[in-house]
Amino acid sequence: MKKIALTGIKPTGIPHIGNYLGAIKPALKLSETCEARYFIADYHALNACKDPVELKKMTVEIASAWLACGLDPKNTLFYRQSDVPETFELLTILMAFTPKGLMNRAHAYKAMVQNNLEANKDPDDGVNMGLFTYPVLMAADILLFDTDFVPVGTDQFQHIEMAQDIAQSFNYVYKTQALKIPQPIAQEDTKTVVGLDGRKMSKSYNNTIPMFCTEKELKKLIMSIVTNSQTIEEPKDPDTSNIFALYKNFATPEQVENMRARYLKGGLGWGQAKQELFEVINAELKPIRERYYYWMNHQEDIWNALKEGSQKARLLASQKIAQLRKIIGID
Ligand code: ADP
Ligand code: TRP
Repeated sequence: MKKIALTGIKPTGIPHIGNYLGAIKPALKLSETCEARYFIADYHALNACKDPVELKKMTVEIASAWLACGLDPKNTLFYRQSDVPETFELLTILMAFTPKGLMNRAHAYKAMVQNNLEANKDPDDGVNMGLFTYPVLMAADILLFDTDFVPVGTDQFQHIEMAQDIAQSFNYVYKTQALKIPQPIAQEDTKTVVGLDGRKMSKSYNNTIPMFCTEKELKKLIMSIVTNSQTIEEPKDPDTSNIFALYKNFATPEQVENMRARYLKGGLGWGQAKQELFEVINAELKPIRERYYYWMNHQEDIWNALKEGSQKARLLASQKIAQLRKIIGID
């Protein structure tokens, strides 16, 4: 029996290379050995996006991105969260097993409260219940499909640990193993991809390299990476350089060793290092970019693939819900 891998990405804008290296690429690698279930977390996005046209556009964009990166809907269950309403029934069940205190500890919520306090506002200013209970919906996504592995960046680990806690508490109450305990997995080398300013690459920091900008825009962004004022001749430390950190994610091991040696020796200027970074990133993204635009021009096919995927997903989901309803006495 193959293990089950599941992950979701929120449709919140064109994915960047942090999403690509931290989530999409490892997930697709995992789909070679696992039964994969990858979906678009559109109800998670509703917390932040209240513009219907924009939400739909971002859904198509993220679906195109998955397909362009190589997701094959014939081998991978590919669906939209909102097309599997069993998710929301499981959410209701799980709410009864989720201590409020657990949600109080969620990083995203805590960060908002902290910002509000610092700005002398009400601690819950701007916090909706969707944001507060975000980890429970995520637990429902995961537990509905008997997930073994959840490929995500480390920023999501806390959410997976909460899904484990919630599942354990359900299993304990009913003396059952009905909810499988999921494990988060992140690849060591792409745990945190750095952005243009050296912080974690994130849409929230405005420091991203989007996956599908033109070659010209890509080059311009890479040239804007923040560096120090060392001269060309000076030897440089590869391990504190964000250009080198990004380079490692795209270059071959030989290229990385070569670049490391040139950093240490001196004579490699930041401009040249950026140029070489641009070349390796562009070589990998170019074919993906072309496929992305193909899919963006064939949106009907995307919707059909998602519809087909959700029909298969619902079949599995409804069996799980029937099993759980029996356990809780609502059957
Ligand atoms: P963002 O921080 O830009 O809003 P999301 O929170 O939507 O990104 O993340 C989507 C997926 O991409 C998650 O699995 C997350 O862990 C992963 N991810 C996002 N940024 C990075 C990064 N800089 N490095 C590694 N993985 C990342
Ligand atoms: N919270 C995830 C993110 O922000 C997206 C997500 C929603 C997810 N449901 C999930 C990821 C289930 C893994 C499994 O990136």
